Amino acid sequence: MDGTQIIDQLLTPEGSADPYPLYAQAHRLGPVAPIWDDMLMAVGYRTVHRLLRDPGFGVADAERREVFDPEYLEHSSRTLLSYSVLEVNAPDHARMRSLIASVFTARRVAALEPAVAATVRRLLDEMAELGSGSAALDFMDTFAFRLPVNVICELLGVPEQDRYLFRTLAADLTVSLEMIVEPDDMLAADAATDRLAAYFTELAARRRADPRDDLVSALVQVADAADARLTDQELLANLVLLLVAGFETTTNLLGNGLALAFQHPWTADGLRTGKVTPAGFTDEVLRYDSPVQLTSRLPLKPGLTIEGHPAGNGAFLLLGAANRDPARFVDPDVFDPTRTESQPLSFGGGPHFCLGAQLARLEANLALPALLSRFPALTPAGDPVRRDRLVLRGYQSLPVALA
Ligand code: HEM
Repeated sequence: MDGTQIIDQLLTPEGSADPYPLYAQAHRLGPVAPIWDDMLMAVGYRTVHRLLRDPGFGVADAERREVFDPEYLEHSSRTLLSYSVLEVNAPDHARMRSLIASVFTARRVAALEPAVAATVRRLLDEMAELGSGSAALDFMDTFAFRLPVNVICELLGVPEQDRYLFRTLAADLTVSLEMIVEPDDMLAADAATDRLAAYFTELAARRRADPRDDLVSALVQVADAADARLTDQELLANLVLLLVAGFETTTNLLGNGLALAFQHPWTADGLRTGKVTPAGFTDEVLRYDSPVQLTSRLPLKPGLTIEGHPAGNGAFLLLGAANRDPARFVDPDVFDPTRTESQPLSFGGGPHFCLGAQLARLEANLALPALLSRFPALTPAGDPVRRDRLVLRGYQSLPVALA
């Protein structure tokens, strides 16, 4: 198979259900392979690592997107996030990123630890109640979604009664991040975006009038400061991004992690006994089955090459494949939370390195060991169902029984 055949296969339901054999084939073609007319697919760890940091390459911002995807302007799901930090390049990126980072600090995240631990305990209590009498539970719904949504909403200042609305809205919106989107899904993505935008416009207005100690209030103040370094549109886009990025991916980290613990019972035992560290387990889940499988980079000036290939219209960076590069990882297809050479690329790298990496790790490090210790007899209670997605990889449902 050549690069085009591999990427075309990855885009089929079978390919996205299990992309790993296709990634292994891609590695045989080298760190980079040409695809379609004028693009590249990068799978080598070193190449992806370097491209994420290379100032000659950037994300598909509004100006560039208009050239290769002119219809994008008709879709709010695509235009809204184009005002966010995720989809802008220098110099706007550095301005926006430093403002968000100034309120979303490492200290603020570290201070959340007791609150995250308390939420974990509360959700485990709820699971114990719902799963008593050996009733099967869906782990995705009862825990994997609820923990991160509550944590990010607590941080943002979204009232408790509104939080569970977001599961479907975020799932609908994030379809628009996939490479191929059906027209009906696009309509649903636009409708979800409009609802989220309306929600955060209203919440920002409430916090403007009556500030609290939360991220929405802090970002509103930044936007309203005399030097107004964040426009209203950017404020809204980044609030929606923080919400959606804050739980979609972490939900999938928890789901992918539990599924792997079931498939490799020695690792679950290791977590219970301390032979496997929570941080080692989380890192290996991120490497082995990353919640974000790919991103892309475009050349910002003419004449650039990638490993000797003309950069053309840019490259898909297959993070999930780079994490299984045999040139970087010993036995890359073996799930081993005790490996020491990890540093997966699941959170990206360089200027766009995930702003929530510390928070996502904190949640997973606390949640999975607590879950396995609280329910030592936890077992699968039916076949898990994967979501039919390539970019954001996770389960739709993961049935479990507590005893
Ligand atoms: C397991 C969980 C997560 C994974 C795998 C993940 C993955 C990523 C990746 C790969 C990127 C870079 C995209 C690119 O370079 O094109 C990114 C960016 C970002 N993530 Fe995460 N993320 C996770 C959790 C979170 C959380 C919890 C938050 C917020 C609370 C968050 C907020 C962001 C933001 C704001 C960006 C954009 C940063 C920028 O463009 O400068 N993420 N994430």
